[in-house]
Amino acid sequence: MNDISDSAAALLAHNSAFIPGGVSSINRIIDPPIAFAKAEGAYLWDIDGKRYVDYHAAFAPYLLGHNFAPINEAVINVLRNGESLFGAGPSRLEGHLAQLLCQNIAAVERACLLNTGSEATALAIKLSRAVTGRQHIIVIQGGYNGNHDEVACNVFNTLSEIGPRVSPGEYPLRPIGAGTTVLDQHLVHAINFNDLESVQYVCRRYPIAALITEPVLQNIGVVRPQAGYLAGLRALADEFGFLLIFDEVKTGFRHALGGYSELAAVTPDLVVYGKAIANGFPLAVLGGACRYMDYLAHPEPARRPFVAGTYNGHPVAVSAAIATLEYLLANRTELYPRLEQLGQMIETGMREIFAAHGVPACVARQGSAFTFYLMPETPVDFHDLMLRHDFARDLQLRRALNALGVFFVPVTTKQCSISAAHTRADIEFTLTQCDRAVSRIWAH
Ligand SMILES: Cc1ncc(COP(=O)(O)O)c(C=O)c1O
Repeated sequence: MNDISDSAAALLAHNSAFIPGGVSSINRIIDPPIAFAKAEGAYLWDIDGKRYVDYHAAFAPYLLGHNFAPINEAVINVLRNGESLFGAGPSRLEGHLAQLLCQNIAAVERACLLNTGSEATALAIKLSRAVTGRQHIIVIQGGYNGNHDEVACNVFNTLSEIGPRVSPGEYPLRPIGAGTTVLDQHLVHAINFNDLESVQYVCRRYPIAALITEPVLQNIGVVRPQAGYLAGLRALADEFGFLLIFDEVKTGFRHALGGYSELAAVTPDLVVYGKAIANGFPLAVLGGACRYMDYLAHPEPARRPFVAGTYNGHPVAVSAAIATLEYLLANRTELYPRLEQLGQMIETGMREIFAAHGVPACVARQGSAFTFYLMPETPVDFHDLMLRHDFARDLQLRRALNALGVFFVPVTTKQCSISAAHTRADIEFTLTQCDRAVSRIWAH
């Protein structure tokens, strides 16, 4: 594990003199530090030239692999052709992308182009309030929906912060970090995933504008919805009159073109995409039914949520998203089954390794997204995970894999992502290294 040289530490120290914490997004701090210099397809190289098979995918956008030529070429071409961010009037590119989305995804009748998932979830919530005239929202304990005040809470907590599992009921709000207003407003309600009774409990007490959830909780690994849960949310949204927002920032395009809602055959009122939509370029989309989305251009200004962004619809990101979508449309019948096969291969292989070493563990997976949990069965919600998972050994295993040239981000429970650039040989290498790492850790 000591073959991670300390030149990454030196770079972090250098950057810290100019950037608070040394990195531009605080969740990029990893211990021990690694600094990457190059990426291609399924591989990363650190500043010392060491190669890693990458399963982090920069927190999941790289569905087609790093520096995928068709996407890079589309971006280069668009800039060569004199496109720019004109900042006035409509652009052909934004119209083309929105049309592709509306024509290929059932949940998207209208699309609004933004830059980040956080902007898109913030707008989804604002739009829900404008539509319903209500203020309260429901979020899911252990779900992540972005960095803005109202949703940046109740993701990773200790059990002493939120107490024992409550059902039906809600958890005390626990913001991520300081400077938040979420505690002053009492408009956010955090409840369990896979718990329809708690939705009813909150809806009977407060006028709820929206429930926002990842359809598969992919910020605490891969916590899947139980049979009937998403359809149950749909039914409760219709019963209580709130808007159902699926945050498909991680699940969108990775699991199917229309995200997990397409696989589950449950149509949300609003849907948010980011990450894989532009294969690593910064673009996010808020989409949904016209009867809601058209509020964004409501003739009465007082009923129209404010949408403005200097970089919205930027040609670099939009051309990347168009190229990604066109690639997925042309290749989906081959690509998604291949990702599923690679996913199955790693799932089976890791299960066999854990079993062979007598480690009580399981592998949770949806297509190309997976994680391992050091507990006998996959968790159903945040408390289940907190009570049963071995966090210390999770981190040990990730660090050991890093040392052996496999990059599972060394942060406990984080999702791993396979890309279309991964090969069976990459998975075989990963399993060989996994076997070595597990035998070293559990030998002690
Ligand atoms: C499910 C989900 N929603 C929203 C976001 C926020 O997206 P961004 O980091 O682009 O603002 C993330 C980011 O990881 C996410 O995983």
